[in-house]
Amino acid sequence: MDERPVGIFDSGFGGLTVVKAIADLMPGEDLIYFGDSARYPYGPKPREEVLAFSLEICDYLINAFDVKMIVVACNTASAFALDTIVEKYSVPVVGMIEPGARSLVSAATTDRIGVIGTVGTISSGAYQEMLGAIAPHLEVTCAAMPGFVEFVERGELESDQLLVLAERLLRPILDGNVSSLLLGCTHYPFLARTISKVLGESVTLISSAEETAFSVRQLLFDFNLAAMRSVGSFRAITSGDVDEFRRIGRTLLGLDFSTVTSHRVDR
Ligand code: DGL
Repeated sequence: MDERPVGIFDSGFGGLTVVKAIADLMPGEDLIYFGDSARYPYGPKPREEVLAFSLEICDYLINAFDVKMIVVACNTASAFALDTIVEKYSVPVVGMIEPGARSLVSAATTDRIGVIGTVGTISSGAYQEMLGAIAPHLEVTCAAMPGFVEFVERGELESDQLLVLAERLLRPILDGNVSSLLLGCTHYPFLARTISKVLGESVTLISSAEETAFSVRQLLFDFNLAAMRSVGSFRAITSGDVDEFRRIGRTLLGLDFSTVTSHRVDR
């Protein structure tokens, strides 16, 4: 039993899809979310830079809030920094790659599956490696979606421009004839309408937010860290503009973000 908060972070709004799944599953937990909006997107950045940002955020969450667990609600940061974070901190850490791969494999209805993610996630080979280990019989088509994250961060979830980009970038997924597609970036569930418009109804879109929340719950129980209260709190912090975060956050999730505060980072 431990009443300390769970710390969750992403480059911007994407990780809020994971926050929502954790809050649904464990409503008694206090959740602290850090969105690094000042430095998004992480996807095109080199590994060293994403690693440095991730460690800086984990230090902040631990030192300022004494979090009992860290959830790396970003596939790019999970691909580049999870091993180092696990090694460096004594609190349990949950990343996106393993829960993502697991959800995809369990949803597969044919031997062809797909993963879309940022340039960093796809080029790191993290999903290819994980899927090769847990489901070597499945054929995996991976594709990077540069530009998708920027649409979400602007709160632009449906537009002609987005559709044109999606039609171009999703071509390899259509050619791969996949039955299930993992949205391997926490921002992408916000674009599900556009993605499914391009791919059609025969492709099942998988978000790993729920599976990640199950991993969080399992670890909290395993380490005897679950909170005993019935209603927890939520606090969001952004490195970007607070008013902008409130406005876009409300557009994306329909939630009241009036309590968002700011934490400055070096760019
Ligand atoms: N939402 C993140 C991910 O899951 C990062 C997106 C970005 O900043 O490029 O990869």
